[in-house]
Amino acid sequence: CGIVGYVGREEAYPILIDGLKRLEYRGYDSAGVALLHQNVINLYKKEGKVAALEQEASGKNIHGNVGIGHTRWATHGEPCDRNAHPHLSGSGRIALIHNGIIENYGQLKADLVQKGYDFKSDTDSEVLVNFIEDIQINNNCSLEEAVRIALKRVTGAYVILLIDPQLPDTIIAARKGSPLVIGVGEKGHFLGSDASPMLAYTKDVVYINDYEMAIVRPDELILKNYGNETITPFVQRLDLDLEAIEKGGYEHFMLKEIFEQPQTIFDSFRGRLDAEQLRVTLSGLDSISDKLLKARRIIIVSCGTSWHAGLVAEYIIEELCRVNVEVEYASEFRYRNPIIDENDVILAISQSGETADTLVALETAKKQGATIFGIVNVVGSSIARLADAGVYTHAGPEIGVASTKAFTAQLVVLQLFALRLAQLKGTISDERFKTLIEGLAKVPEQVDWILKTQKATIRAIADKYRGSSDFLYLGRGYNFPIALEGALKLKEISYIHAEGYPAAEMKHGPIALVDETLPVVFIATQDPFYEKIVSNMQEIKARKGRLIAVVSEGDTQAAELAEDYIVVPQADEILAPLLSVIPLQLLSYYIGVERAVDVDKPRNLAKSVTVE
Ligand code: G6P
Repeated sequence: CGIVGYVGREEAYPILIDGLKRLEYRGYDSAGVALLHQNVINLYKKEGKVAALEQEASGKNIHGNVGIGHTRWATHGEPCDRNAHPHLSGSGRIALIHNGIIENYGQLKADLVQKGYDFKSDTDSEVLVNFIEDIQINNNCSLEEAVRIALKRVTGAYVILLIDPQLPDTIIAARKGSPLVIGVGEKGHFLGSDASPMLAYTKDVVYINDYEMAIVRPDELILKNYGNETITPFVQRLDLDLEAIEKGGYEHFMLKEIFEQPQTIFDSFRGRLDAEQLRVTLSGLDSISDKLLKARRIIIVSCGTSWHAGLVAEYIIEELCRVNVEVEYASEFRYRNPIIDENDVILAISQSGETADTLVALETAKKQGATIFGIVNVVGSSIARLADAGVYTHAGPEIGVASTKAFTAQLVVLQLFALRLAQLKGTISDERFKTLIEGLAKVPEQVDWILKTQKATIRAIADKYRGSSDFLYLGRGYNFPIALEGALKLKEISYIHAEGYPAAEMKHGPIALVDETLPVVFIATQDPFYEKIVSNMQEIKARKGRLIAVVSEGDTQAAELAEDYIVVPQADEILAPLLSVIPLQLLSYYIGVERAVDVDKPRNLAKSVTVE
């Protein structure tokens, strides 16, 4: 989501609208503003892009020198007018916008409902604004104090902005885990998720840190920590252009999204995995547990990169849950008159939730009585709405056409799915369960390590091989789909022909391609197939192929055989794909950039393919 705010001497509305348009790259399924004018809050919000909001507000009172605005990328509750921000407290006095996720909103909401609060939206944000108001009433304190108390009892990530007619020239803001920048200008103060909404007015900004609150007035910016101690704001002068800010300083969205993965992987298991209590919570799965426990098979339906996530899931679910899994290309599945009945559970995996082939395949299966479980990134998308139950991947908006962070988030959710189902079925030992959840909790850190320590090596490899016309990617077991994904990424953003293959199957065809010009990327991490992979590497080496290997930390054999190698931390074989895919994403990225491809928008491809 994107947030903006303004408090000063100018009319707030045009500043907010302009800011929201700049933030639309962060999501745009609904937008809204709240303006303070003559002690009244005027609030307008609308499903769709900022333009729809402008239409909604046209002809109405849009005056006021204080205002807050929001463009939403749904996490709780489908995109619609009702769920759009700002949200008002029960009394209608306080207006709040929120970016992030309040994890304990369920409990807070239950308590508030008991006290007689009713809710107009399905959002965690409306719970927060009521929670704050309730504290203010009970403690008879200032809004600032109520916010401080509330935030100490809230878990999750957020940036919030609040306005209240009782504080006519003030915005109260706070953050933990989601970004907030305050611009200090001649004409007042500007607030935003990043600096893009304020750049036209000022280049002097203050980056707010976690657990900090700001009380912002036209000529005053007070920063405090949650202990109510004042902090001196550190004003810095920006020297960035707008585009660079949206990309967070990265050259491309794809690179930004690759580097975001330590955070997005964490976000995809946040609140769902408890490594201390040894618990996986997926309420979507539990809601269809009777179907899942009865199912004779699970069918995974998807396209592109999401299909590769499905292939990894097939191995994991069969291993941990001892149930038959089939993975289907949606486009093939829908046209071949598949045999489906009410005993089938279909797992639909889709980043956009709009892929036409997947959507129609699911509609057909649903008509035949199957239960549909969606693993989708875009909240409220068509597939999410069609599904009987599901889990969102929470990777945030993915802008680069080639999927990266959405893929790793899918893998995490699929691993959680397998773990929870295995627990319900009793097919996993406590010890294995413990190893896997503890391992999963460590993945964000391990991905961060790969990105930091291997970047230069990967760049050098990209430089060395960028002139090749073909690549072969080989892996076994859980890493076989990662070989497919590595090859797909390279094709998509470098236009080099690449094929992924199961390493052993290579002798039945692709080996004929091997000569001293062919780079062959092996995923040769420490797992039960390691010795076999090393033999396959020997076979390529004997034919003078150029070996590039992804190896585990501490490896000797595969690293020694390869001409070039990239290191990833050791991990359980089930978790290994989350690590081994990272260098392959980065390798394709650097090769694409070296070959001057527009990596965020490669030719002929689309982010969301809504035609069959
Ligand atoms: C397009 C995109 C791919 C994506 C595929 C499936 O081809 O370019 O990145 O993997 O569609 O999309 P979905 O949104 O259903 O995951």
